[in-house]
Amino acid sequence: MKKILFVASEAVPFIKTGGLADVAGSLPKYFDKEKYDVRVVLPKYLCMKRPYFDQLTYKDHFYMYYNGANRYVGILTTVVDGVTFYFIDNEEYFGGDKPYGDWFWDLQKFCFFCRAALSALPVIGFQPDIVHCHDWQSGLVPVLLKDSFRGGDFFKDMKSIMTIHNLKFQGVWSIPVIQQFTGLSDYYFAPDKLEAYKDGNLLKGGLVYADKITTVSNTYAEEIKLEFYGEGLDGLIRARSNDLSGIVNGIDYDDFNPATDPHIKKNYSVDNFRKEKVKNKMALQEEVGLPVDKSKFVIGIVSRLTDQKGFDLIACVMEALCQEDTQIVVLGTGDSKYESMFRFYADKYNDRVSANIYYSEELSHKIYAGCDAFLMPSLFEPCGLSQLMSLRYGTVPMVRETGGLKDTVEPYNEYERTGTGFSFSNYNAHEMLGIVNYAKNVYFGNKKEWNRIVERGMKKDFSWSSSAKQYEALYDSLTE
Ligand code: ADP
Ligand code: GLC
Repeated sequence: MKKILFVASEAVPFIKTGGLADVAGSLPKYFDKEKYDVRVVLPKYLCMKRPYFDQLTYKDHFYMYYNGANRYVGILTTVVDGVTFYFIDNEEYFGGDKPYGDWFWDLQKFCFFCRAALSALPVIGFQPDIVHCHDWQSGLVPVLLKDSFRGGDFFKDMKSIMTIHNLKFQGVWSIPVIQQFTGLSDYYFAPDKLEAYKDGNLLKGGLVYADKITTVSNTYAEEIKLEFYGEGLDGLIRARSNDLSGIVNGIDYDDFNPATDPHIKKNYSVDNFRKEKVKNKMALQEEVGLPVDKSKFVIGIVSRLTDQKGFDLIACVMEALCQEDTQIVVLGTGDSKYESMFRFYADKYNDRVSANIYYSEELSHKIYAGCDAFLMPSLFEPCGLSQLMSLRYGTVPMVRETGGLKDTVEPYNEYERTGTGFSFSNYNAHEMLGIVNYAKNVYFGNKKEWNRIVERGMKKDFSWSSSAKQYEALYDSLTE
């Protein structure tokens, strides 16, 4: 039995701000349980979802010297769908009403988390063969495994993997501060280690010291070798390219299943979506305050409202998108300029735009089920899960050809009658508008053809089954 520990800062069903949580919480379920014992360690945030927070059981605690003081480290645990989750408890660090916020404070608390998570392992009695780290918040772990934890027998042979979900966020501050939080010696603060452009960089530490690096799609694995997508680390990524692979994300096919989804008005499948899906569209229109009219072309957006997701393209041509035959339903929170932009148009065109500026799991499912198309024109997209959810629900994705969007959405080809969505290449608002209008032409002009696009999308398999096998092969390559 191979033992794997995921170290992550968020995971469903406990705490989620984005796709990382979907991955860290759902992927562990899909490994071959006879061969892989995959467990997850998370911070015990006070703001975690309630029924789950209350079901954690106390396991143990100890004190750990960190950043100038002896600090409490509690360990709690629970099992969900056969997967064991551990939680690192320290209310000073993990109190507060959201998991992240202030950069400086986040650095201190996630350095604490990394050190505490490793220190907890002998206490729990779980000795992983591989520690699988996700994003900058766990970037210190591969470094510690090669540094202070290396001494004893327990950690000596432990391998690590660093998975990049988003290279944009790296955990950066001045070297003295990063040195203080990590407790690492001067040796580590050189340009071939944790130093990047004269600052300390936690993700860089993970990328230098991990035994293998992965990211969440093949295209993104190639893109980050380029300056445009490399976020300053493209040189390092190129240098480590022999150890880098792209493994595309899946989604949880039980949670995201239009045939059984309890959140949606009318369940449906690939066999009856032509009749049934529209009932979800009308229910959605009613719920979000738009005229109930099945003839409208309804575009959905569920997203963090940040530059990454291409909202400046949408802002640029929003007038042109708000045609009389179109409705746009937005669900998201983020940068105030984008929140205000959608509120503005929802006010100006209250029969065409519905701006839902908050977070809601339930409404997100209703949007995936109820819209005709889903717009995701990202500037960059390591993988993207929303387009996979849309495909699963027969909602046709309209995307920019970058990262995982390029790998998972096959552009419609009217001559060969292939494709599952619509896509454009250059980061250009009018190119985006062009493919939205093209999609509308097919939708209004040839409903049969549109439904074939929907059908092809629903028939694609973006469950975890094949990607989990690729992670298994990677684990095998490190342990055999
Ligand atoms: P990212 O991780 O970059 O935010 P992904 O597409 O990988 O992008 O994953 C986003 C996840 O977060 C999806 O599960 C999506 O449904 C969800 N999500 C984003 N914003 C909201 C929101 N306001 N309400 C509910 N779910 C949201
Ligand atoms: C990140 C990326 C997104 C990816 C998710 C899960 O948040 O922005 O593209 O799907 O991580 O890997």
